[in-house]
Amino acid sequence: MLALAGIPLGLRFRFLDPSPDATAGALGPLVVGALGDEDALAHVTEGATVVTYEWEGVPAAAARLVGATGPPVLPPPVALDVAQDRLREKELCRRLGIGTPEFAPVDDRTDLDRAVKELGWPGVLKTRRGGYDGKGQVVLRDPSDVDRAWADLGGVPLIVEAHVPFDRELSVLAVRGRDGASAYWPLVENHHAGGILRRSVAPAPGVSQALQEAGERLAGKLLDALQYVGVLAVELFDVGGQLLVNELAPRVHNSGHWTIEGAVTSQFENHLRAIMDWPLASTAAVGVSAMVNCVGALPDPRAVLAVPGAHFHDYAKAPGPGRKVGHITVTAGDAAELDARTTQLVGLPGTDVPA
Ligand SMILES: Nc1ncnc2c1ncn2[C@@H]1O[C@H](COP(=O)(O)OP(=O)(O)O)[C@@H](O)[C@H]1O
Ligand SMILES: [Mg+2]
Repeated sequence: MLALAGIPLGLRFRFLDPSPDATAGALGPLVVGALGDEDALAHVTEGATVVTYEWEGVPAAAARLVGATGPPVLPPPVALDVAQDRLREKELCRRLGIGTPEFAPVDDRTDLDRAVKELGWPGVLKTRRGGYDGKGQVVLRDPSDVDRAWADLGGVPLIVEAHVPFDRELSVLAVRGRDGASAYWPLVENHHAGGILRRSVAPAPGVSQALQEAGERLAGKLLDALQYVGVLAVELFDVGGQLLVNELAPRVHNSGHWTIEGAVTSQFENHLRAIMDWPLASTAAVGVSAMVNCVGALPDPRAVLAVPGAHFHDYAKAPGPGRKVGHITVTAGDAAELDARTTQLVGLPGTDVPA
């Protein structure tokens, strides 16, 4: 999707992916190799103007190596260090005066027992590193859950968090250029099922100007603290109008896919503008949008495209359980029209949307 946004701007792309089937291969030369493979990295980055990444699991050491010996790597690799470790993420927020769920590091069983007593019930035990789509975390509802949670996750560095009774989940997508200029899309409302993002609505309904500004302010602090360049997504809990940071994604983000059709400028185009040191463009929404992920299966394009305002994105990935293989963005003029249109997607394979 980055390349799809950049090709009309005259940019050309090479890709590194461990899989020979990577979809990006349709848009430019694909080097198949591990993301930490020095030869593969040297090969794919040779002569490039700039190098970027769209997965936060990229080894930070590999990103540093490229940046030290080859083209600039943006966003800066320090963003990977932070976003790869839930403890560092929350410590950074705390240092910047940004709210998060209460948390404590857990390295052994004694830490865990002490932490749950301090934080209270319910809690969430998470691996500090490597979790995604709800994997690597267990909710602790009462003391009887602790043994099982420890058996499931113990042995690697962990963090325990207070389980927040949020009203809803939001995200803020922010972009910062090399000159330090920043811009923010309207807050997005996100609906997960089983830890997987299923639907985003943008702009999030019922967001006051004060809430939008609070989201922008906290994202702006993170952008500046990391000397960030590119798109940063911040996942938030809205608790009675107060925003707590859940996690950071130092990349274009699934909750920003709606911006392709639903905003003046997509997250992909502005990410490229930022890393190229080009001017950023408007992040304003055009009408209202809903983005529905296709998880585990793809609907028939004919059925999707029959819905007014629907745009279909097929990632050409082999479907597997829980795997995001495409998305649909529905755009409309107002909330009622959006509702009427998204209702027409009900029953399409992969799009079962939780209430
Ligand atoms: N402290 C928490 N309180 C309440 N819900 C949580 C908490 N942490 C995670 N969740 C729920 O689990 C989902 C996935 O957790 P997250 O930390 O974002 O991990 P992942 O990397 O899998 O996205 C969140 O979107 C939220 O719905
Ligand atoms: Mg998340």
